[in-house]
Amino acid sequence: MEKSEIMSQEKKYILNTYGRADFVLDHGDGIYLYDTEGRRYIDCLAGIAVNALGYGNKAVVEALSRQAMKLIHVSNLYHTEPQVLLAQQLVENSFGDKVFFCNSGTEAIEACLKFSRARAKKNFPDNPNKFDILAFHGSFHGRTMGALSVTSREKYRLPFLPLLPGVRFVEFNDLEAARAAVSKNTCAVVVEPLQGEGGVNVATAEFLQGLRELTRAHGASLIFDEVQCGVGRTGRLFAHEHFGATPDLMALAKPLGGGFPMGAALLTEEVAEAIHPGDHASTFGANPAICAAGLVVIGEILSPGFLENVAAVGSFIRAEVQKAKEFIPAIREVRGLGQLTGIELTVKAQEIVAEGFRRGLILGTAGDYVLRLAPPLIMQMEEARIVIEQLIPLLAETGKK
Ligand SMILES: Cc1ncc(COP(=O)(O)O)c(C=O)c1O
Repeated sequence: MEKSEIMSQEKKYILNTYGRADFVLDHGDGIYLYDTEGRRYIDCLAGIAVNALGYGNKAVVEALSRQAMKLIHVSNLYHTEPQVLLAQQLVENSFGDKVFFCNSGTEAIEACLKFSRARAKKNFPDNPNKFDILAFHGSFHGRTMGALSVTSREKYRLPFLPLLPGVRFVEFNDLEAARAAVSKNTCAVVVEPLQGEGGVNVATAEFLQGLRELTRAHGASLIFDEVQCGVGRTGRLFAHEHFGATPDLMALAKPLGGGFPMGAALLTEEVAEAIHPGDHASTFGANPAICAAGLVVIGEILSPGFLENVAAVGSFIRAEVQKAKEFIPAIREVRGLGQLTGIELTVKAQEIVAEGFRRGLILGTAGDYVLRLAPPLIMQMEEARIVIEQLIPLLAETGKK
């Protein structure tokens, strides 16, 4: 089909919930994407922080093909080896003792919320009101009803009210406000150690450590949402490793399935004790084929030098944008960790994204005024230099208009 036909047929058949770019993607290679007209784009968004190993990674394709020839899906009624191997990798490299597998970030959050409720019921059988949840302004946890209930942005919430009862929001990084909001009825506190969608806001160590103490003192579960910032994105396997605080539960997704849908909730043994067979489930969750791809992703991320490169390349990008801030008035602030960078602007970030497309650079936004860079984690320093050579003039020229 021609580009114009694809676009018009899409309008006819697909529910319009997205503002899509004005090109049709065809294939990819490393950090590059190509459209149907042969134009090349440097991808600084990676399918929204999913494609950690970029495009066309041979090991992922081979592992997936090999497993697909044997078995793609059997449901979670049966034992399969790839799922166990992936769970082992996640548990042995984290605070977690057990994994629950699902298909997306929002489902991983749903699982964490449900498990926190079950834990509260088990530990506080005499308090039927222990179901309150504390979340933070700027949070994004997903679009299903539970996850949406702890997502702060009005625009996402209003069309679907009422949401879950008992949810409160306070300022991100404001420990005093959190202290004032938590009570004996608090069941869980859910937080992104590095807020993505909300503008790329980095938590302070004091904040996360304080939430750890606070939840412990009130018998509430601490949930870290690392759907976007976890699995290598920040230059550590998990973002919270930067801050000296560990949660009771953690939601993962995005890069975990090598581009295929996978989510996971990691939990401690103490939380796991509240969950019994039949309490929660997923038909597709972590089928053998996706797990085969996921094993390659985790293996690569944990290979020597990989995370160091993520940290170095991300720091380089931020340092270069910081230098450019001196002479580009449109840049307000640069922030982030590893390969998740937010550039706060005085102009609408979408303008820069649109001009980036025209120049062959794929960027994202995080709210109205923040440009988001979440490139494939395999990006090398020389590729980052090319990004900077394109990004700085783009910011300088668009900002002037
Ligand atoms: C921090 C965070 N949590 C949850 C989600 C929801 O993930 P999904 O879109 O896979 O449901 C996202 C998606 O962007 C996210 O960034």
